[in-house]
Amino acid sequence: MLRLAILASGSGSNLQAILDASKEGLLNNLVPVLCVADRPCRALERAADRGLKTVLLDRKKIGTKLPEALDCQLSEQKIDIVALAGWLSIINGKITRKWTGRMVNIHPSLLPEYGGKGMYGEHVHKAVLDAGENQSGCTVHFVTDSIDGGKILGQSRVNVLKNDTTESLAARILIEEHRLYPKILADLAVDIRAYHG
Ligand code: GRF
Repeated sequence: MLRLAILASGSGSNLQAILDASKEGLLNNLVPVLCVADRPCRALERAADRGLKTVLLDRKKIGTKLPEALDCQLSEQKIDIVALAGWLSIINGKITRKWTGRMVNIHPSLLPEYGGKGMYGEHVHKAVLDAGENQSGCTVHFVTDSIDGGKILGQSRVNVLKNDTTESLAARILIEEHRLYPKILADLAVDIRAYHG
Protein backbone atom coordinates (compact mmCIF):
# COMPACT_ATOMS: atom_id res chain seq x y z
CA MET A 1 0.00 0.00 0.00
CA LEU A 2 1.20 3.53 -0.84
CA ARG A 3 0.02 6.53 1.15
CA LEU A 4 -1.39 9.54 -0.74
CA ALA A 5 -1.54 13.14 0.49
CA ILE A 6 -3.79 15.60 -1.34
CA LEU A 7 -2.97 19.31 -1.19
CA ALA A 8 -5.86 21.69 -1.84
CA SER A 9 -6.93 25.32 -1.54
CA GLY A 10 -10.42 25.40 -2.99
CA SER A 11 -13.63 23.53 -3.65
CA GLY A 12 -11.95 20.15 -3.71
CA SER A 13 -13.86 18.59 -6.57
CA ASN A 14 -10.70 16.84 -7.77
CA LEU A 15 -10.04 15.64 -4.24
CA GLN A 16 -13.58 14.27 -4.21
CA ALA A 17 -13.03 12.47 -7.52
CA ILE A 18 -9.87 10.87 -6.12
CA LEU A 19 -11.65 9.80 -2.92
CA ASP A 20 -14.56 8.40 -4.93
CA ALA A 21 -12.17 6.42 -7.12
CA SER A 22 -10.49 5.10 -4.00
CA LYS A 23 -13.85 4.00 -2.56
CA GLU A 24 -14.59 2.16 -5.80
CA GLY A 25 -11.24 0.37 -5.62
CA LEU A 26 -9.86 2.13 -8.70
CA LEU A 27 -6.60 3.45 -7.24
CA ASN A 28 -4.74 0.12 -7.16
CA ASN A 29 -2.39 0.12 -4.15
CA LEU A 30 -2.79 3.84 -3.42
CA VAL A 31 -4.67 4.97 -0.30
CA PRO A 32 -5.58 8.63 0.39
CA VAL A 33 -4.74 9.33 4.04
CA LEU A 34 -4.03 13.05 4.37
CA CYS A 35 -5.40 16.37 3.11
CA VAL A 36 -3.42 19.54 3.67
CA ALA A 37 -4.94 22.94 2.87
CA ASP A 38 -3.24 26.34 2.88
CA ARG A 39 -6.48 28.15 3.72
CA PRO A 40 -9.89 27.21 5.12
CA CYS A 41 -11.74 25.62 2.19
CA ARG A 42 -14.41 23.15 1.13
CA ALA A 43 -11.75 20.59 0.22
CA LEU A 44 -10.85 20.17 3.90
CA GLU A 45 -14.49 19.49 4.78
CA ARG A 46 -14.84 16.92 2.00
CA ALA A 47 -11.68 15.17 3.20
CA ALA A 48 -12.83 15.16 6.82
CA ASP A 49 -16.21 13.72 5.74
CA ARG A 50 -14.34 10.76 4.27
CA GLY A 51 -12.24 10.22 7.39
CA LEU A 52 -8.91 11.54 6.10
CA LYS A 53 -6.58 13.30 8.46
CA THR A 54 -6.93 17.01 7.69
CA VAL A 55 -4.35 19.70 8.37
CA LEU A 56 -4.80 23.43 7.86
CA LEU A 57 -1.53 25.27 7.32
CA ASP A 58 -3.04 28.72 7.00
CA ARG A 59 -0.73 30.69 4.72
CA LYS A 60 -1.93 33.96 6.23
CA LYS A 61 -0.84 32.84 9.68
CA ILE A 62 2.32 30.85 9.04
CA GLY A 63 3.58 32.68 5.94
CA THR A 64 7.13 31.67 5.00
CA LYS A 65 7.08 28.72 7.40
CA LEU A 66 4.54 26.94 5.21
CA PRO A 67 7.02 24.80 3.20
CA GLU A 68 8.73 23.55 6.33
CA ALA A 69 5.40 22.81 8.04
CA LEU A 70 4.21 20.97 4.94
CA ASP A 71 7.38 18.91 4.80
CA CYS A 72 6.86 17.91 8.47
CA GLN A 73 3.30 16.76 7.84
CA LEU A 74 4.28 14.69 4.81
CA SER A 75 7.10 13.00 6.73
CA GLU A 76 5.05 12.44 9.87
CA GLN A 77 2.31 10.74 7.87
CA LYS A 78 4.83 8.64 5.93
CA ILE A 79 3.44 9.87 2.62
CA ASP A 80 4.56 8.16 -0.60
CA ILE A 81 2.79 10.25 -3.26
CA VAL A 82 1.57 13.87 -3.13
CA ALA A 83 -1.23 15.12 -5.39
CA LEU A 84 -1.78 18.85 -5.72
CA ALA A 85 -5.47 19.40 -6.44
CA GLY A 86 -6.15 23.11 -6.74
CA TRP A 87 -3.30 23.97 -4.34
CA LEU A 88 -2.42 27.64 -4.79
CA SER A 89 0.77 28.14 -2.76
CA ILE A 90 4.15 27.87 -4.46
CA ILE A 91 6.07 24.74 -3.46
CA ASN A 92 9.74 25.64 -3.06
CA GLY A 93 12.70 23.91 -4.69
CA LYS A 94 13.76 22.07 -1.55
CA ILE A 95 10.43 20.26 -1.43
CA THR A 96 10.07 19.67 -5.18
CA ARG A 97 13.56 18.13 -5.27
CA LYS A 98 12.80 15.88 -2.31
CA TRP A 99 9.61 14.70 -4.01
CA THR A 100 10.95 14.32 -7.53
CA GLY A 101 8.82 11.78 -9.38
CA ARG A 102 6.35 11.46 -6.50
CA MET A 103 4.56 14.84 -6.51
CA VAL A 104 1.97 15.59 -9.21
CA ASN A 105 -0.35 18.43 -10.14
CA ILE A 106 -3.38 18.92 -12.34
CA HIS A 107 -3.63 22.02 -14.50
CA PRO A 108 -6.68 23.11 -16.53
CA SER A 109 -4.97 23.58 -19.91
CA LEU A 110 -3.08 21.56 -22.47
CA LEU A 111 0.41 22.22 -21.12
CA PRO A 112 2.87 23.54 -22.11
CA GLU A 113 0.29 26.00 -23.43
CA TYR A 114 -1.30 28.35 -20.90
CA GLY A 115 0.82 27.37 -17.91
CA GLY A 116 3.29 29.19 -15.67
CA LYS A 117 3.11 32.15 -13.34
CA GLY A 118 -0.31 33.81 -13.13
CA MET A 119 -1.96 31.04 -15.14
CA TYR A 120 -4.48 29.62 -12.72
CA GLY A 121 -8.26 29.45 -12.40
CA GLU A 122 -10.20 31.62 -14.79
CA HIS A 123 -7.03 33.35 -16.08
CA VAL A 124 -6.22 30.17 -17.97
CA HIS A 125 -9.63 29.87 -19.61
CA LYS A 126 -9.78 33.58 -20.43
CA ALA A 127 -6.40 33.36 -22.19
CA VAL A 128 -7.57 30.31 -24.17
CA LEU A 129 -10.78 32.07 -25.25
CA ASP A 130 -8.98 35.35 -26.06
CA ALA A 131 -6.56 33.44 -28.28
CA GLY A 132 -9.44 31.85 -30.18
CA GLU A 133 -8.25 28.28 -29.54
CA ASN A 134 -10.60 25.57 -30.69
CA GLN A 135 -9.35 23.02 -28.15
CA SER A 136 -8.34 23.11 -24.50
CA GLY A 137 -8.21 20.51 -21.76
CA CYS A 138 -6.29 19.44 -18.70
CA THR A 139 -2.86 18.05 -17.90
CA VAL A 140 -1.44 15.98 -15.06
CA HIS A 141 2.29 16.52 -14.64
CA PHE A 142 5.13 16.03 -12.20
CA VAL A 143 5.81 19.02 -9.96
CA THR A 144 9.26 20.56 -10.39
CA ASP A 145 10.91 23.93 -9.73
CA SER A 146 9.44 25.27 -12.93
CA ILE A 147 5.77 26.23 -12.49
CA ASP A 148 3.61 23.82 -14.54
CA GLY A 149 6.81 22.70 -16.28
CA GLY A 150 7.37 19.10 -15.11
CA LYS A 151 7.05 15.98 -17.23
CA ILE A 152 3.54 15.45 -18.57
CA LEU A 153 1.87 12.23 -17.38
CA GLY A 154 -1.46 12.57 -19.17
CA GLN A 155 -3.87 14.95 -20.87
CA SER A 156 -7.54 15.13 -21.83
CA ARG A 157 -8.88 17.38 -24.56
CA VAL A 158 -12.18 19.22 -24.89
CA ASN A 159 -13.46 21.29 -27.79
CA VAL A 160 -13.92 24.99 -27.20
CA LEU A 161 -17.47 25.88 -28.25
CA LYS A 162 -18.52 29.04 -30.04
CA ASN A 163 -20.46 30.46 -27.10
CA ASP A 164 -18.13 29.29 -24.35
CA THR A 165 -17.52 31.56 -21.36
CA THR A 166 -14.67 31.04 -18.91
CA GLU A 167 -17.21 29.35 -16.62
CA SER A 168 -18.68 26.96 -19.19
CA LEU A 169 -15.23 25.99 -20.48
CA ALA A 170 -13.89 25.51 -16.94
CA ALA A 171 -16.87 23.31 -16.05
CA ARG A 172 -16.40 21.06 -19.11
CA ILE A 173 -12.69 20.73 -18.44
CA LEU A 174 -13.34 19.95 -14.77
CA ILE A 175 -15.38 16.89 -15.78
CA GLU A 176 -12.34 15.64 -17.70
CA GLU A 177 -10.06 16.43 -14.75
CA HIS A 178 -12.16 14.19 -12.54
CA ARG A 179 -11.73 11.31 -15.00
CA LEU A 180 -8.05 11.87 -15.71
CA TYR A 181 -6.54 12.53 -12.28
CA PRO A 182 -7.53 9.29 -10.47
CA LYS A 183 -6.45 7.24 -13.49
CA ILE A 184 -3.00 8.84 -13.64
CA LEU A 185 -2.55 8.45 -9.88
CA ALA A 186 -3.49 4.77 -10.04
CA ASP A 187 -0.94 4.21 -12.84
CA LEU A 188 1.74 6.18 -11.01
CA ALA A 189 1.26 4.11 -7.86
CA VAL A 190 1.87 0.93 -9.83
CA ASP A 191 4.96 2.42 -11.52
CA ILE A 192 6.41 3.64 -8.23
CA ARG A 193 5.80 0.30 -6.55
CA ALA A 194 7.52 -1.49 -9.44
CA TYR A 195 10.46 0.91 -9.38
CA HIS A 196 11.06 1.18 -5.62
CA GLY A 197 9.82 -2.29 -4.64
C1 GRF B 1 -8.84 22.69 -11.11
O1 GRF B 1 -9.30 23.30 -12.27
C2 GRF B 1 -7.39 22.31 -11.28
O2 GRF B 1 -7.04 21.99 -12.58
C3 GRF B 1 -6.69 23.56 -10.84
O3 GRF B 1 -7.46 24.08 -9.79
C4 GRF B 1 -8.81 23.64 -9.92
C5 GRF B 1 -9.18 22.96 -8.64
O4 GRF B 1 -10.54 22.66 -8.56
N1 GRF B 1 -5.31 23.29 -10.49
P1 GRF B 1 -11.09 21.78 -7.35
O5 GRF B 1 -10.68 22.49 -6.06
O6 GRF B 1 -10.48 20.42 -7.45
O7 GRF B 1 -12.57 21.76 -7.52
